[in-house]
Formats: sequence, C-alpha cells, structure tokens
Amino acid sequence: MANEIYLPTDHVVDRSRLPSFEQYQDMHKQSLDEPQQFWADIVNDIHWQTPPESGNFMTYNFDITKGKIFVKCLEGSLTNVCFNVLDKNVRNGYGDKIAFYWEGNHPEDYSRVTYAKLYDLVCQFGNALRDRNIGKGDRVAIYMPMILETVVCMLACARIGAIHSVVFAGFSSDSLAERMSDCKAKVLVTADGGWRGTKLLTLKDTCDEAIQKAKEKYNHEVKTCIVVAHLERVTACGKLPHDLRDLYKWNQDVDVWWHEMMEGQSNICPPEWMQAEDPLFMLYTSGSTGKPKGVLHTTAGYLLYAKATFRYVFDHRDKDIYWCTADVGWITGHTYVVYAPLANGATCVMFEGTPFYPDNDRYWAIIEKYKVTQFYTAPTAIRALMKFGDSHVKKHNMSTLRVLASVGEPINPEAWLWYYKLVGSNRCSIADTFWQTETGGHVITSIPAATPMKPGCAGYPFFGVDPVILDNDGQVVTGVGEGYLTFKRPWPGIMRTLYGDHDRFQDVYFKRFPGYYCTGDGAKRDEDGMIWVTGRIDDMLNVSGHLMSTSEVESVLTEDSRVSEAAVVAKPHKVKGESLYCFVSLNEGATYNAELVDALKRRVRDRIGAFAAPDVIQFAPGMPKTRSGKIMRRVLRKIALGESDFGDISTLADPSVLDELVKHRST
Ligand code: PRX
Repeated sequence: MANEIYLPTDHVVDRSRLPSFEQYQDMHKQSLDEPQQFWADIVNDIHWQTPPESGNFMTYNFDITKGKIFVKCLEGSLTNVCFNVLDKNVRNGYGDKIAFYWEGNHPEDYSRVTYAKLYDLVCQFGNALRDRNIGKGDRVAIYMPMILETVVCMLACARIGAIHSVVFAGFSSDSLAERMSDCKAKVLVTADGGWRGTKLLTLKDTCDEAIQKAKEKYNHEVKTCIVVAHLERVTACGKLPHDLRDLYKWNQDVDVWWHEMMEGQSNICPPEWMQAEDPLFMLYTSGSTGKPKGVLHTTAGYLLYAKATFRYVFDHRDKDIYWCTADVGWITGHTYVVYAPLANGATCVMFEGTPFYPDNDRYWAIIEKYKVTQFYTAPTAIRALMKFGDSHVKKHNMSTLRVLASVGEPINPEAWLWYYKLVGSNRCSIADTFWQTETGGHVITSIPAATPMKPGCAGYPFFGVDPVILDNDGQVVTGVGEGYLTFKRPWPGIMRTLYGDHDRFQDVYFKRFPGYYCTGDGAKRDEDGMIWVTGRIDDMLNVSGHLMSTSEVESVLTEDSRVSEAAVVAKPHKVKGESLYCFVSLNEGATYNAELVDALKRRVRDRIGAFAAPDVIQFAPGMPKTRSGKIMRRVLRKIALGESDFGDISTLADPSVLDELVKHRST
C-alpha cells in the first residue's frame, strides 16, 4: 500500500466551493445527523411541481430480518428529471450555454448543442414517442453510439415518464435480445452504425438479429425500431459498402428513421409529473448467477444525489468544461455524462471515438481543444495510454485541468502517479471515485480541494454515506482493518429494486449481512481512516472496468457440445486490470486444439460481447474439487498466476488433478 499523502494544491483550493478538510468533516457529520437540513440546499435547487412533504426526507428498511427492504426519498413530491435538467436551465438564462460539445470518432466531425436546442430536440422526440403510444412506465431500449441523439432519447424518455434501458452497444445481439425481452421493451432506438477508430459497428444489423432472437427465444416482440442515420453524416474511417443500405435489412413494419419521426414535431412537450419513487431508468448489470440484473433507479433521490455528487466531487463551477469518457451504456455514462452534469447546467464534452484514433494522443488533443477543466476516465484507459510514453501528453497544453477523476476499478499507484504527475502537472486533484451501477452515484471518493489523497485509495464517504467494514462473521471492523465493504443506511441515489425481481434484490444485497447493503467488494481502512477498495470478493470479474460474472462466461463455454465443464477465474492484466482465464474439461471424444480454443473465444464474443473475450482457454483434464463437488477457484487462480504453492488443499477430493493442470498451464 503506497501511503504517500498528497494534499490539494492552491490551483484547486483557490477556486473551490469546498476548500477544507474540516468543512468536509462537518458537512459529512451533518449529512448523517441531520439529513433533512443537510440536503435542503440542493432540494431547494430542484424544481418541484409539488414539493416534498417536510420532515419526511427518507424512509427505509435496510434490515431484512425486519421485513421487506425499501428506500423512499422525498415522498409526496412531484417532479420531472428532464424538466430539471433542461427547462429549468433555460428558464435560468442558460439557453445559449453549450450543453454538449460533440466530438466524433474522426477529428473533423464535431458539433455542439446549446441547452435551448437540446430542449427543442428532446421535446420533439418526446412527442414522436408519444405519437407511437409510448408513455409513463413503458420501457424503451437504447442501443446507440456516443452521439447527441442518445442523450436526446434518454431525456425524452425521462420527460414522458418512459423507463429507458440502455444496452451498451458493444453487447452482442444475444445479450441485447435477453435484456429487451426481460424488460419487455416496446421500442428499440439505435443508429445505422458508428465508428470506433477504424472499426465499423454495424449496430442496426445487430438490432435486427436481436429483434429476431427476442421473438424466437423469449417470445417477445419489439414493435418499433427507430434508427438514426449516423453513418452518412460522418467521415468514413474505414471501408464502407457503396450503398449504406447493404449494411442491414430494412423492415417496413418495424423500422422507422429518427429524422422522419422528428419531422414536423412540435417543441412543446408537457412533462409527465412523476412521483418521487416512480422509476427513471433501469440498467442491466451482471449478476454472479443467472440472468443480468435490471438495476432500477427512481426519480427524486437519484436526481438529488447525481446533482450533489457532481457539484462536490468534480468541484464544478459555472465556466468549467467537463469531460467524462465513459460510454452511455454504463452507469457512469448515465449519471456522469448525462444526468448529473446537466442537472448542474454544465458544459460537457461527449466523445464518440477511442483514445487511440487517429493517434494515441486523442484524449490529450481533445482536452486541449475544448479547454477541459475536469476529466473523468478509467484506470484501464490510463494504463493503455501510459504505454505510449509521455511525449503524447507533453505536446498538448492541458493547463486548464483542475480535477482528474477515475472510476471502474481500483487504480494502481503507478497509473495514479502518472495521471497525477504528467496529466495533472502535479497540481490537479485526483478523485478516485468508488461506486457501482447500484449506488447511482459516487459513494467513496476524494473531494478535490478538501480531502488528502493517496495513490490507489478511494478515500472518504460522500455525504449521506455511512460505510462499515465487516469481517467474515459480520462483526464490525473498527479502526485499521479489512473486510467486506457495506453500508449501514441508504443515501438518496441507491437503487430501489431489481426490475421485476424484488426477492433477488433482497437476496443479493441484503441477505449476507442483515442490516447492511453489501457491495460485494473488499475494503481496508488505514491508520488515517481512509478507505481502500481492494476489489470484488464474489465471483465477479472486472475486465477494463466492465463487470461480468464467472458463471455467465462459464455457461456460454459449456454451450459448446465438446465442453463438459468450465471454470473461469480472473488473471491480473497490465492494461485491462483483469482478464479471463478459462479452464475447460471436455466430453469423451472431443479434442483440445487451436480450433476449439478459437471457437470458444468466438462464442463468448458472440454471446456476450467483444469486451468479454477470454485471454486464455486452458485444457483441464479434471477440475480441482472439494469432496462435496465444489470447484476450488482459489486453486485455479493460482494455476492461472503461474504459482505452485496452492495453500491448504486438504479438502481437495483428488489432488492429482493439480499436476495435470500445471502441466497444461498456459505460459
Ligand atoms: O468492484 C468495484 C469496481 O466496479 C464495481 C462496480 O461496477 P459497475 O456496477 O459496472 O460500475 C462501474 C462504474 C461505477 C465495484 O463493485 N469499482 C468501480 N469504481 C471503483 C471500483 N473499485 C475500486 N475503486 C474504484 N474507484
């Protein structure tokens, strides 16, 4: 554990709204002792069609032994998230302020949209959806590249009370079909395609397949597919067919062009006034067993929490230019590309491309071009960029930067220091933001001008957050120590349920330690009271910041009729953080060879998505199992790591399998 302390510099403190540690501590204390008073400032900065009942900030039950788990925040109020992020800003005189600078995959493709223009587009698209009979509570699936229409679509859903379910556009048609069917989406919104570097994403084609699979496999019919014509308006960065229509089939009964739907639509679209606990959106995240979990976020608490975390964690000021590189298909893209910045009237950069195109300095070039003040990215991107040396960073003027932030996995000290010293010129603060799809917003983080920083350490609880470290027996670890990271009470932005499966919600998060929300991550508290998140302690893998379950990948591998059993473990990877190392046992007569390895890797890509592709498929003549038949993953992890000290293997049913596994180990 690198224990070097870095303090915020004057560069950050001088412009801060929260410039001291004492102030952070006082505010944190008040947020726990007097939540109503603490949140009042931000609550009053939200438009309420009907104000919340006073004295009723939050009600909840976090203890499963006392009954059903629930969380309610600002009950009795009526509001609309879209109204707050658009109408309110326009009314406050921000109409001409840029909401987004859009930067395409190719540097020659860029545009911008003001708050007033975004408002018009959202109202028009809201009306177009209403024309198709989409309204409050309906689910809208979104499978889009990083383009402005994606934001328009999400906000239009919020405006009319529809629940959006964005599926990351790197997911396969199977994954999309499963997610659309699970939430019974009425509509799917996509684009004809998009570019990532020189790679063409044939999104519409994937959607066609997904719609077909949803029908065949899940008996769910998606009646409308709305398509943005994106490819024709941007520079081709690779090969394209002469006629773009060759990229997909057009189904007259289902497909409709975005621009045709927008034609003639009015820019007046009355918002649907939503109850505080009405759903805002759902977002699927991997579960350690079975199908993906549809994490559900609701209206008032999410808005409040998104607004507050953005204000303090990025230390946002009016003239700032903020850039979060996350894709909108993940929770970071929801909260910190769309809702939180807009709720603060911020000007954001939205980027369609990759850090490596047309050159490996693209991120730094964009920071220089737009004079970015806050930059939010993932450790995997930082590590990938470090590899190209310092010169790419040095050739750009990035003196506008004040806050650098990180999310997705623990950031290794080496990457932290490179980010701090080179990108931040030893004077920007780094906010290592720990949170989850489920938490809605940051929960453990540094506050740029207020809290000390240590490379690799997430730091301190955000306001309203009460972290507790528990040991294996559920005993509270006080002071210095390590254990499970849990939370003793809810904060406004926490998920409310898993869509359509409240029992699973309770089982997954509240059963292990009654009275606590269990994150599934390990954490240690150091002698300065700072919290280090050490990584997952369940059967989850974190590849390039994308969470996936070992069992999800295992079940795809065993779909191949040659595979009798599969076990997947995480192996540390220099850039991705973790990579997938898979062990497969084969059925009688099947042969382990390069063709099988290729076929299995392809299968995982096709069924889940390219980002889930395994690095290694190792032949396992037998699996190391306990006498009760449970695979000892701990042992497999050691094999993957190339270690030969397997620790206590006394419970292993047949120790001889270890020699075989070592023999077949991939080097
Ligand atoms: O293991 C933690 C890791 O990512 C998980 C949440 O993944 P997801 O729901 O996909 O959301 C990612 C973006 C918020 C966590 O359980 N994680 C995320 N941020 C950090 C982190 N681990 C350590 N430090 C972080 N800053």
